[in-house]
Amino acid sequence: MKLWGGRFTKEENQLVHNFNESLSFDQKFYHQDIQGSMAHVKMLAKQGIVSSEDEKAILDGLQGILEDIEAGKLEFTKEHEDIHSFVEANLIERIGDAGKRLHTGRSRNDQVALDMKLYCRDELKEIDGLVKDLLAELLKIMEKNTETYMPGFTHLQKAQPVTLAHHVGAYFEMFYRDCTRLHDIYERMNYCPLGAGALAGTTYPLDREYTAELLGFYGPTLNSMDSVSDRDYVIELLSALSIIAMHLSRFSEEIIIWNTNEYRFVEIDDAYSTGSSIMPQKKNPDIAELVRGKSGRVYGALVSMLTTMKGIPLAYNKDMQEDKELTFDAIDTVKGCLALFTGMISTMTFNKDIMEASAKNGFTNATDAADYLVNHGVPFRDAHGIVGQLVLFCIDKNIALDDMTLDEFKAISPVFEEDIYQAISLKTCVEKRMTIGAPGPEAMKKVIESCKKRLEELK
Ligand code: ARG
Repeated sequence: MKLWGGRFTKEENQLVHNFNESLSFDQKFYHQDIQGSMAHVKMLAKQGIVSSEDEKAILDGLQGILEDIEAGKLEFTKEHEDIHSFVEANLIERIGDAGKRLHTGRSRNDQVALDMKLYCRDELKEIDGLVKDLLAELLKIMEKNTETYMPGFTHLQKAQPVTLAHHVGAYFEMFYRDCTRLHDIYERMNYCPLGAGALAGTTYPLDREYTAELLGFYGPTLNSMDSVSDRDYVIELLSALSIIAMHLSRFSEEIIIWNTNEYRFVEIDDAYSTGSSIMPQKKNPDIAELVRGKSGRVYGALVSMLTTMKGIPLAYNKDMQEDKELTFDAIDTVKGCLALFTGMISTMTFNKDIMEASAKNGFTNATDAADYLVNHGVPFRDAHGIVGQLVLFCIDKNIALDDMTLDEFKAISPVFEEDIYQAISLKTCVEKRMTIGAPGPEAMKKVIESCKKRLEELK
């Protein structure tokens, strides 16, 4: 049955139906569709637009549909165009004429705008929860590792020593911003489009404030054409999801590197690794690789949505039906990535000795050796040159700066004294970095306190 059959004389072609329909995917928000209809009919009754008997019949009917879908008793049969037609047709089948009054003062255009918004809002809250779970996990790792030394890298070359807490703390900040980004989107999107009608509002005395309130919105949207045309919040959500996916991908990339035989900084738990069908020795970081790989489809959704929207004249156009599959996919993908990633890092072991040894062996204390000279009156540019010579000497002998004898130091610069060893020890190098945001344990502990507090405040 078609909702709009009245004006048409020919049967719809099957191919056209298949191309046009959205029930196969918008059934995903049946719950939000019914929730929206319930609010709409309550408002219609309050305004005296439908009788309270009809209201009751409609509410009971909708409740029955909801329960039957959830119990698997009601199938989404193909002849219906979309979830809105499906629910309405079912309602009329169940309760007769009263069901025909539900759509009074409403269009599928404001209905779909509402459903999509409700769906995105629900999912946004779930994603927010998953990001917070990840933040809590990162915080645990940080708290335990303020004195776990490791090399910090630039250009993937060992640069200066940091701690595991500090490195993981960088991701805490990224995912924290992701969380606040989600909150910002929520604040902007949380206005109700219901009552915008097809594009120009309606002639019925709808109480839009009331439906907005029933559905947990801050208030109604303020321009009916914008209300049915707006998918900005979808684009914002996809953008936030893309950034989350990008952060997850970067972290995954590091874990993949850290998990190699060459690094062995971490060991991914068996549960999050897989074997090779041919090479018995392999333990592959598949989950990290998949999380890295899936960022592509999330970005794809964002670009696709931006492209779909860019040429659409006001107000509703069917192009906008294209918002659903890719948004659903991006949401499900990011939710999966977040859950798996959190599971993977919470079961991963850190080879702290190997990390520390790596920090010792890569001349990560070279800057500190130069600073030692500067503190003894040598101009920085000269100090840089002297330490360059030390490094050359060590590379030749395949040793670390700490392994040089004092005579060897002095041969290159007489300024060096016995206290050079202490000055360039890993512990000193890290501890002396005490400015806020630096890896020194004292600075780090303060930041960890702030992380805890900020995470609390997000809840
Ligand atoms: N399935 C449609 C969509 O997802 C619902 C709105 C249809 N409205 C219309 N006037 N054809 O956008």
